[in-house]
Amino acid sequence: MSSPPHTPPHTPRTSRAPDVLVVGGGIIGLVTAWRAARRGLVTALVDPEPGGGAAQVAAGMLAAVTELHYGEETLLALNLASARRYPEFAAELTEATGQDLGYRRCGTLAVALDADDRAHLRELHALQQRCGLESEWLSGRECRRLEPMLAPGVRGGLRVDGDHQIDPRRLARALVTACERAGVVFHRVWAARLGVGRGGERATGVVTADGTVLEAGRVVLAGGSLSGRLAGVPEAVLPPVRPVKGQVLRLTMPGAHGPLLNRTVRAVVRGNHVYLVPRESGELVVGATSEELGWDTTVTAGGVYELLRDAHELVPGITELPLTETRAGLRPGSPDNAPLLGPTALDGLLLATGHYRNGVLLTPVTGDVMAHALTTGELPDEARPFTPRRFGAAPAVPELPDPPAPSDLSEQPV
Ligand code: GLY
Repeated sequence: MSSPPHTPPHTPRTSRAPDVLVVGGGIIGLVTAWRAARRGLVTALVDPEPGGGAAQVAAGMLAAVTELHYGEETLLALNLASARRYPEFAAELTEATGQDLGYRRCGTLAVALDADDRAHLRELHALQQRCGLESEWLSGRECRRLEPMLAPGVRGGLRVDGDHQIDPRRLARALVTACERAGVVFHRVWAARLGVGRGGERATGVVTADGTVLEAGRVVLAGGSLSGRLAGVPEAVLPPVRPVKGQVLRLTMPGAHGPLLNRTVRAVVRGNHVYLVPRESGELVVGATSEELGWDTTVTAGGVYELLRDAHELVPGITELPLTETRAGLRPGSPDNAPLLGPTALDGLLLATGHYRNGVLLTPVTGDVMAHALTTGELPDEARPFTPRRFGAAPAVPELPDPPAPSDLSEQPV
């Protein structure tokens, strides 16, 4: 690779090329960089706004059990492995930064409002039992005893005491601090192109949007929904990741009369998933739509209406609360809803992307898996099913128009 055409004054300098360059400063890129640096690897990260991305929108449910889906038993094992790591991971991150992450071991209640929802929940319960997971069927009355603000019409529910929550914005902020303290060098600029050696035999770094060449021993592509868009990545290793839009609302609960809800409450209402995540800070997060609309991040009247309508059916009292924020983000969807982790067929290029609905939950295990892969060249056993190589040599990247300028992939305060 040739030397950079110019080096702008804001670009930090390292005395030598880092061992690892992470492309993408969302929580997955940050945790990868933090864990790599803690293992003694000289690490850099390129992103114009580290700590941004989908974590700024996500509700932060750690819902391995209540978000179980048919056919995703392999993913379940990784989700559970990550959920088990959370207490230690959160303690370690708080210790490293002095920051509270809003990690709440509050449990989750999944409820049914009509006969169809109830049948759906019964099926989920049976699947959870077949998978050896802990969940308890409750009558409507028992649900309301746990959560008195639930609608009188609730027909039954599943109590899952092991599905918790964390505040993803705090998590992202803490990871930025932890990276800084571990010596990760931040390049606050967009990565424009992967650098590949002459002959295209290995990844050598990236060229940034301002033309700076950043060389590195290895490159980890952790760009969330944009991971399939980095120019210069050979087609055979381009991650088959697509954006899946989620609209999310934030309301504020009054503290005076005790909490509105004690735990996360969720339901499938007429086929739509809705969840209410109450934070100790008084924030109530209501999510989320799931829309295959390419790069669109518009907050729509229809999306807000459906979320409020369904949330109101579950907890009628929410209509009294101030609506403080509406936002839309993009989940990085993959063909089997599971992440792509570890080395690719291109020497020097690794992936940490495609976490879809589980990015926050999978943050601890992703950090450990990627640090292991970067230090040994191998995936640990628990992550072998998630090798990017499972999609073969020429993955189907969906045909989408180019994304808008990334700063327009945004959120809209009310
Ligand atoms: N895991 C919640 C969501 O993706 O909406």
